[in-house]
Amino acid sequence: MNALIEHQDLSAFNTLAIQAEARFYWAIESQADLSAALTWYRQENPQMPLLVLGGGSNIILSDHFPGLVLHMQNKGIALLEEKSDDETVSIDVAAGENWHELVCYCCEQGWHGLENLALIPGAAGAAPIQNIGAYGVELCDVMDSLECLEVDSGKRYRLSAEQCQFAYRDSLFKKAGEPRRIISSIRLRLRREACLNTQYPGLQQSLHSLGVTPEQASPGDILQAVCNLRRAKLPDPAALPNVGSFFKNPIVSEGHYQQLKSEYADLVAYPHGEDYKLAAGWLIDQAGWKGHREARVAVHEQQALVLVNHKRGSAKDVLALAQKIRDDIWQRYQVSLEIEPRHIQVDGALAPS
Ligand code: EPU
Repeated sequence: MNALIEHQDLSAFNTLAIQAEARFYWAIESQADLSAALTWYRQENPQMPLLVLGGGSNIILSDHFPGLVLHMQNKGIALLEEKSDDETVSIDVAAGENWHELVCYCCEQGWHGLENLALIPGAAGAAPIQNIGAYGVELCDVMDSLECLEVDSGKRYRLSAEQCQFAYRDSLFKKAGEPRRIISSIRLRLRREACLNTQYPGLQQSLHSLGVTPEQASPGDILQAVCNLRRAKLPDPAALPNVGSFFKNPIVSEGHYQQLKSEYADLVAYPHGEDYKLAAGWLIDQAGWKGHREARVAVHEQQALVLVNHKRGSAKDVLALAQKIRDDIWQRYQVSLEIEPRHIQVDGALAPS
């Protein structure tokens, strides 16, 4: 069983490589670890900030975290025979499983639906928080339910996908006023028969480069095409620290979209219900920010939506650059960009989004 560690360096545990230190830290590999950590926490000071860390790939840490970090490293993928049938397979995945390894494992087993979500960094337990999505598929398309533990009441229960209130890069877990919850495992419902989503234009091109048409593509081809696409466009956090898309694609009214479209004929946008979702990467790129470098942080050279930490910048450096971009985008297009990763402030609280 793991024990409490004081003054733990978190730089290797966040993909933006911010040199943050946690006052208290507990690696969670089992149910026993979680119970012990929470018992300690409640006795020590249940008001102290608590941070649940998965792969650390969607988080902006401040230099010092003044509370307890629970680092989810519990493992296990279990096939639920009684909940599977000829068409579908249900699996329970422990929160600490690496997401991309899960995607590859399921594809090898012939359990389909996750291929488009290959190479997304992070842990399985973090996936529901922002409802991860890529190339036309979102987690909510394959999610059945999840198991969680309420920190304050100690209650353990299951929430259905519907109860999780999934939306674009959003869920119940991001809403203010909700009880503090720790996701311990997620349950996915996958398909035995390949059911491929190849609508995304970039994915079709990537399949063609592999020598297959979208109609002929196997699940393995999709997985490979997605990996190739992401490797070409998105920096590997191990080589160039980043948290993927730094901003959400903003949603604007049809009137606003029409007005922008009349001014910028090649604006990239997708219908989103009655509104339109704009490609923030396009807006930032057009505004001339792609490849922009500051002393410690920069805008990635291939994808304007990604900020990179090339010289050990802090949360302040990253957020200062993000603010300059937000101000400029507002000036040019009257579009408000929202930051996508979660920012943990110096007092340990989550910054409002
Ligand atoms: N574009 C530019 N310049 C850029 C970047 C993009 O002109 O610098 C244009 C592209 O040409 C394209 C459009 O913007 O026409 C959209 O770009 P892309 O296909 O790269 O996707 P995205 O909207 O930038 C979203 C997700 C990604 C996900 C991809 C693929 C968000 C915030 N981001 O990016 O998710 O991988 O679609 O589905 O929704 C993440 O969340 O960390 C992430 C990487």
